[in-house]
Amino acid sequence: MNSSEIRFCDLQSQVDLNQLQELFKLAAFWAQNRKIEDLAVAIANSDPVISVWDENRLIGFCRANSDCVYRATIWDVVVHPDYRGLGLGRKMIETLLNHPRIVRVERVYLMTTYQQGFYLRLGFQFPNPSTTMLLYNKHQATSSLATPAMVSGESPRG
Ligand SMILES: CC(C)(COP(=O)(O)OP(=O)(O)OC[C@H]1O[C@@H](n2cnc3c(N)ncnc32)[C@H](O)[C@@H]1OP(=O)(O)O)[C@@H](O)C(=O)NCCC(=O)NCCS
Repeated sequence: MNSSEIRFCDLQSQVDLNQLQELFKLAAFWAQNRKIEDLAVAIANSDPVISVWDENRLIGFCRANSDCVYRATIWDVVVHPDYRGLGLGRKMIETLLNHPRIVRVERVYLMTTYQQGFYLRLGFQFPNPSTTMLLYNKHQATSSLATPAMVSGESPRG
């Protein structure tokens, strides 16, 4: 790898959805069955979205949602297996944390199953010994929440 050819990009529109789907199938166990049309929706509703390129090859990806001041959450962090251990994951997360939509944010959250060591190296911490996180999993919830009537704003039907 010639590191001078590695490019970091923060434009959502530049993400090649076919390459992203392949990268997830190869290297992101939680995102192996994602459909192109759903990936397009997720990317359109995330900002920043960081992609990493070796010429025209997508080799890294991560995205976040942010309110720009108080809270942000990072999702879908992945580096292609051929490019790991070279500092690209670190640089990708640094690029994301320095993005104007994240740089002022008080708390940046993420969830990881196996990569705690990576994030600890980057300065992330466990907030406290007992987790405060709760999860509403739409596909596993035993009782579903009713959809309330809209009382303000535009109705979904316009
Ligand atoms: C996690 C991942 C993004 C790391 O990318 P990477 O480019 O290999 O990481 P880097 O080379 O930038 O490593 C940065 C630092 O973290 C360390 N590190 C990397 N992975 C680590 C791990 N699993 N445990 C402990 N330390 C780790 C490196 O040694 C390096 O330390 P240093 O800078 O102090 O020398 C990559 O392994 C990956 O894509 N894994 C599969 C997908 C995944 O699990 N993503 C996380 C989802 S939450």
